[in-house]
Amino acid sequence: MLLEFNSAYAENLDQKDLLRDFRQQFHLPVLHGKTAAYFCGNSLGLQPKGAEASISKELRDWANLGVEGHVFAERPWVSYHEQFAPLLAKITGAKPNEVVAMNALTVNLHLLMVSFYRPTTSRFRIICEQKAFPSDIYALESQAKLHGLDPKMAIREIAPREGSVEIHHEDIIEAIREEGEQLAVVMIGGVNYYTGQVFDMQAITREAHAVGAIAGFDLAHAIGNIELHLHDWDVDFAAWCSYKYLNSGPGGVAGIYIHEKHSSNPNTFRLTGWWGHDKSSRFKMDPEFIPIPTAESWQMSNAPVISMAVQLASLELFEQAGMPALLDKARKLNSYADLLLREVQNLPGFEGMFSIITPASRGCQLSLLFHRDGRKMFDYLLENSIIADWREPNVIRIAPVSLYNSFTDVFRLAETISSFKH
Ligand SMILES: Cc1ncc(COP(=O)(O)O)c(C=O)c1O
Repeated sequence: MLLEFNSAYAENLDQKDLLRDFRQQFHLPVLHGKTAAYFCGNSLGLQPKGAEASISKELRDWANLGVEGHVFAERPWVSYHEQFAPLLAKITGAKPNEVVAMNALTVNLHLLMVSFYRPTTSRFRIICEQKAFPSDIYALESQAKLHGLDPKMAIREIAPREGSVEIHHEDIIEAIREEGEQLAVVMIGGVNYYTGQVFDMQAITREAHAVGAIAGFDLAHAIGNIELHLHDWDVDFAAWCSYKYLNSGPGGVAGIYIHEKHSSNPNTFRLTGWWGHDKSSRFKMDPEFIPIPTAESWQMSNAPVISMAVQLASLELFEQAGMPALLDKARKLNSYADLLLREVQNLPGFEGMFSIITPASRGCQLSLLFHRDGRKMFDYLLENSIIADWREPNVIRIAPVSLYNSFTDVFRLAETISSFKH
C-alpha cells in the first residue's frame, strides 16, 4: 500500500494546511451520528456559520427601521448589491464594474442571450457542448425559437470522441472555424458538470472572436473552483449560480459578468428595469431609461437583501482566504484524492470496478464512472457518513472543497471505498 494511504499521512497534510481553520466557519452535516465527510460542494455548498448573523442583521434593521432601512440600515439596502462586485470580481478575474449579483442562473442565461444572441439570416449558429446541463440546453433551444429558428438548425453540440467522455479542445476550435461567419455565439460550461472537465475559455474566446462571434460561459461549476481571468481572457459574458462553491444556500442569488466594452456601449441591447437606471436620477422616476454604463444595468429589480446576506457571509470567507491559496489547496486535495482512488482501483477485487473520467484539465471535482456496484457503493458511502453525489446512470461525483474539506476527509473516502464488500 502507498505511504500516502494512511490516516497519519492525511493528518500531517491537514497540520500543514494554512486554510485548515476555515472548516470551523461552516456547519458540517451529521449523518448516522457522525460528522459527515461532505463532498457535495459542487451541488450545494455548506452553510457558513456567519450566515445566520448576516441574515439577522438585515431582519433587525428591517424591524427597527422599516422602509428607512433602504438608506439607514448598517448596510443600506439601496446599494446592498454593490458590496458584492469587488468580491466577485476577485473570484472571477473581472473588474468590479463587470459583475453583478442578481437573479438565478437560468434566468440570467436568458437575459444574456437576449443581449448577445442577435441572429441574422447569415449569422445564427450557437455552439455548445454535448451533455451540457439540461437547463442550458433548454435555454438555448428556446432562445433559438424566440428568433423563429429551428433549434436543430441553430445549435451545434460538440460531442466527445467515440469511446470517450472528454470533449477534445481541438474539436471545439475546429467547429468554431468551420462555422466561421455563420457562428453567432459560443456558449459552453466553463467546467462540465458531469465529468468535471475544465474548458480552455481563453482559447475558445480567442477563436470565437477571430470569426466575429461572441463567447459566453456558464460558470456554475467554475466559480470559486478554478482560476478565472474573465476580463483578461476578453470573455464577452458569463453567468453562474452561487449555491455550489459560493455557499449561498439553496436558490441563492446568482451573478453575471459582462465585459465592460459591451456594458459601456449604449448600443448593446439589454432588457431593462429601474434598478439598471442611472443611480443619480433613478428616483426622479422619469420615463426615459438611462442605463448605468456597467453590468449593473442588467439588474432590473432591487436586490433580495435577506437571501443575499448569506452570500455576503460566504464571500467574506473567500476574501479572508484569498483565491490563490484556495486554488492551491484545491489542487492538492484533488491530487490526493486522485492518488488514493487510483490505489483503490488496483486492490484485489476492485480491478475494473470504476474509472476516473475527469480529464487532467480539472478543478477540484472527480467523477467516478462505475462499471459495477455503483449505486451500492454510493449507498455504502452514505451509511458511512460520506456524502457524495450520484448521477444517473452510474457516476459518483466528489468535490473536495478548499474552504471546508480536509485531507482526512479524502482519506476517509478512499478508505471507505476500499472497505466495500462485493
Ligand atoms: C451547469 C448548470 N447550469 C444551469 C444550472 C441551473 O441552475 P438554476 O436552477 O440556478 O437556474 C445548473 C444547476 O445546477 C448547473 O449546474
